[in-house]
Amino acid sequence: MPNRIPSSFIDEVLARTDIVEVIDGRVPLRRAGKDYQACCPFHEERTPSFTVSSSKQFYHCFGCGAHGSAIGFLMQHERLSFPEAVADLAGRAGLTLPSVVEGAKQRGSEYAGLSEVLTRAQRYYEQQLRAPAGRAAVEYLKKRGVSGAIAGAFGLGFAPEGWDQMHSLGADAAIRDALHEAGLLIRRDGREYDRFRGRLMFPIEDYRGRLVGFGGRVLGGGEPKYLNSPETPLFHKGRELYGLFRAREAIKRASQVIVVEGYMDVIALAQFGIEHVVATLGTAMSVEQFERLFRFAPEIVLCFDGDRAGQAAAWRAVETVMPVLREGRQVSFLFLPEHDDPDSFVRREGAEVLRERLARPDPLPEFFLRTLSAKTDLSRLDGRAKLLELARPLLSKMSPGVLRTMMLAQIEERAGMPRLGLAREWRLTEEAPTSSIKRQSGTAGRATIVRIALALLVQHPELAARAGDLSVLQDSGRAGVSLLCLLIEHLRQEPAKNAAIVIERFKDSEHSHILASLAIWQHPVLAQDAVAEFEGALRQLRQQAVRQRTEALLERSRTEAGLSSAERSELNELIEQRGRAAKDASGTAKPGVGK
Ligand code: UTP
Ligand code: MN
Repeated sequence: MPNRIPSSFIDEVLARTDIVEVIDGRVPLRRAGKDYQACCPFHEERTPSFTVSSSKQFYHCFGCGAHGSAIGFLMQHERLSFPEAVADLAGRAGLTLPSVVEGAKQRGSEYAGLSEVLTRAQRYYEQQLRAPAGRAAVEYLKKRGVSGAIAGAFGLGFAPEGWDQMHSLGADAAIRDALHEAGLLIRRDGREYDRFRGRLMFPIEDYRGRLVGFGGRVLGGGEPKYLNSPETPLFHKGRELYGLFRAREAIKRASQVIVVEGYMDVIALAQFGIEHVVATLGTAMSVEQFERLFRFAPEIVLCFDGDRAGQAAAWRAVETVMPVLREGRQVSFLFLPEHDDPDSFVRREGAEVLRERLARPDPLPEFFLRTLSAKTDLSRLDGRAKLLELARPLLSKMSPGVLRTMMLAQIEERAGMPRLGLAREWRLTEEAPTSSIKRQSGTAGRATIVRIALALLVQHPELAARAGDLSVLQDSGRAGVSLLCLLIEHLRQEPAKNAAIVIERFKDSEHSHILASLAIWQHPVLAQDAVAEFEGALRQLRQQAVRQRTEALLERSRTEAGLSSAERSELNELIEQRGRAAKDASGTAKPGVGK
């Protein structure tokens, strides 16, 4: 999505969303105390450890560690991207996404107009396939072995010959405009005519099952073989994947998605019972498409012809996917015999042979190494050096992590220089960028005063107003205390209604993991004591800070150099303050928490 969504809008969406409602519609929840529970939708379990908190607007599974806000839930459960999840919640809350740029309302009705004419056209094409006009198309499908059932399942249709078929969908100006914008009508030299004529029609749905365009194939020979809808506000070739919506359950079941090149390949494989298949629309795979598919399955198998063009296409895919590749995400290749595509192969060899091949495709790391090695002479020293140089730009694109480390090690070994330390040599950063929070999300964690104060603040962000003066705390030098100050100041400027909002605001910051683990931490403080405990914790932290500074100054006053006059008056001030604070603490009954 082009524009970043303003964080104030995300706040607004979360403030108007009830996570319990969002989740309950998909995973039925049972009340358990003040929270809600269910068996976790993200891992297999018999006893519920999936918990949804209405006050925090956060969910958390004590079994697998899954957790997040309503946005996170939609991303994880519905496999939506971040902007898609925000848009979805905004829609429920009756908010208009600002990133749908200028004229959002007008745009909305435009989309509706496009959808409407696409759907009408789809109905028309399907009827035509069954009408006498469609006889040749039916013959063609039969000749290619496409069953009637599968043609129906994919909504195949027929656009008869003729220049004015679309007229039957409506003649008024608004409809003609929508038809034009949907790419079904071409306007040239003041005249209008149909884009699709005498073609077998393949409706194309986006990942949510909305009809967005068509592909049309000539019957038999003719140029171009396929004609697709042009780019429209709804249809972007480089983004959509043919068959994804239909295949999504099969993909989740198989934990694998197969990517082929043609419409007919998807259809043939489905007919042979291989349903976790999608096709690109005549373009190379984009990063966006890889990311989309990784949300559905951890393994992507790309099918190509065995010829040179297939190898080149596979290499292009390697280059594209590198930046989003990491452990837990696998890409493999299946090279078919020359002049075969999955359609012809499965019809000749049968589903079993294809399944066997799909079960052991060529893993990307091996293809990578093999392809690079073939470009150099590894028996020569300068050839091995060249191997390193060829690998460098590609491996540099990967994010740090186990997979990259292993691929680096493999390249080093191939170059005859094990433990060369390429990562350091190439100045690749070592720390993993997005280590999963799982490790820290355990409810363990020591109940220190800072940790409790932080957790209370994240879980009840309105407490920021009760924090009092931060000046003594500001330069305590303790990481937890600085984060606490940072958070308090942030929340004073921009109050947040609940934990989910805080988490989403810090989503991209270095603190995101610790904040999320604080949000789900079940500390010993009861909700009704939150204010008193928070104030008590801050008081104690202030005392600690004062004590430390006092001791440091006293220590130094005993040395040769002694204190400057400014420091001496600071020390006096501190000692007085300490006396006041002690009185203060004994005056209010609450002793505070922790040690
Ligand atoms: P193919 O020619 O491999 O498609 O092109 P296919 O599905 O196997 O075709 P047939 O019917 O069996 O001969 C792969 C994909 O490239 C796009 C289409 O999306 C097609 O499915 N393409 C191909 C075009 O967009 N235009 C063309 O002229 C050809
Ligand atoms: Mn084909």
